[in-house]
Amino acid sequence: MSSTLSRPGPPEPEIIVIGCDHAGYHLKAEIFQLLREMGYQVEDVGCHRPDVSVHYPLYGKKVVEVVLSRPRARGVLICGTGLGMSVIANRFPGIRAALCHDVYTAEMSRRHNDANLLVLGGRVLSPDKAREIVKVWLTTPFEGGRHQERLELLEQLAREKPFFPES
Ligand code: RB5
Repeated sequence: MSSTLSRPGPPEPEIIVIGCDHAGYHLKAEIFQLLREMGYQVEDVGCHRPDVSVHYPLYGKKVVEVVLSRPRARGVLICGTGLGMSVIANRFPGIRAALCHDVYTAEMSRRHNDANLLVLGGRVLSPDKAREIVKVWLTTPFEGGRHQERLELLEQLAREKPFFPES
């Protein structure tokens, strides 16, 4: 692990699980390389080629399953815009997926939202910008405190039966 990553705060993830659809394939290859350079253990759930159109929810769910089943795993998901992956990932309780197109949002998604999954748009971001976002996202700690209360509330509300007022 690079020494620039040592900061106070909770332990860093021990594994990063990464997945994409065909539109995220090229950026996934870049980010996979970056994560290895940074010293992370990386698990790549696919897809493994850019020339065959695939369904992003299938790869989104694969990444979610690993993140939810391992205590110190975090995920990175990439599709064309990041929107589809963001929608599928956030359907699962316990997942806080942050779609980030800039460094500020990536930082805040860790500080305030304790995001455990980063979503990127392969057709939106340059490789350099995406690398910056990933570095900040992986090295920024969660602030806890009032933000922890909000996350607990969020999980509680998501598990409650929705109330539909009569129209
Ligand atoms: C695939 O063409 C594209 O729809 C997908 O990658 C993603 O952007 C969906 O939200």
